[in-house]
Amino acid sequence: MKKDFFNCPDTINESELYGFSWIENVLAIPSPLVCVTSYKENGLPNATMQSWCDFDGNEGFHVLFSAVNKHTHMYASVMKTKQFAVNFPSKDVFMKCMSTIENNDYDTDEITAAGLTAVPAERINAPLIKECFLNLECELEWAKEVSKVGDHYVFCGKIIGFHMDEEHYNADKLGRYGETGYLYNIHRPIDPDTGKESETQVGVIHKLGTYDKL
Ligand SMILES: Cc1cc2nc3c(=O)[nH]c(=O)nc-3n(C[C@H](O)[C@H](O)[C@H](O)COP(=O)(O)O)c2cc1C
Repeated sequence: MKKDFFNCPDTINESELYGFSWIENVLAIPSPLVCVTSYKENGLPNATMQSWCDFDGNEGFHVLFSAVNKHTHMYASVMKTKQFAVNFPSKDVFMKCMSTIENNDYDTDEITAAGLTAVPAERINAPLIKECFLNLECELEWAKEVSKVGDHYVFCGKIIGFHMDEEHYNADKLGRYGETGYLYNIHRPIDPDTGKESETQVGVIHKLGTYDKL
């Protein structure tokens, strides 16, 4: 049976959601796990885990980050340089990318401190994470507040070029999907009937087949 949701269910305590909407956790829609890199004002590499992102391929190819917190280094760095890279970890380097969160001081090279390798991008002023299988070089086209009262901005970046490991675009080798490919964030699903939470988990794509086979 389909149930209707217009208000936060009584089973969920909104003050325990770390600032997220109850809708976020009841829907728990997966989104790609990436690490965004840029240069801080002091010239040191910044790295920020981001998950709420999507892409548009209508005119060129754009990445949209829908929830950039304005109190992060990423917000300050990208607003200043107008350039950033989007790095896609596979599961073997994921935890190193996650450790950029613990190595988050302004005076830290956050990529090196995480045990990763920073290499300069070719066409933009931003570092790339060498160990990630895909790096997008992006120019910030625009940034806009999601709402007048919140802390989040939408960033729209034009992808001007990218670097992709050939073993990942070759489906006969590592490929883009399954255990060795793109990672997805499954953010703390909550059962609205009971209020029971599941821990946040990392997912991969399991292909079901072509449209006509479903
Ligand atoms: C899996 C994951 C996804 C995240 N997604 C976002 C996001 O979409 N937007 C955001 O502002 N912070 C996000 N964060 C939090 C930032 O990564 C975190 O605050 C980070 O320390 C900010 O780094 P910075 O100050 O160097 O930019 C995420 C964290 C994790 C672990």
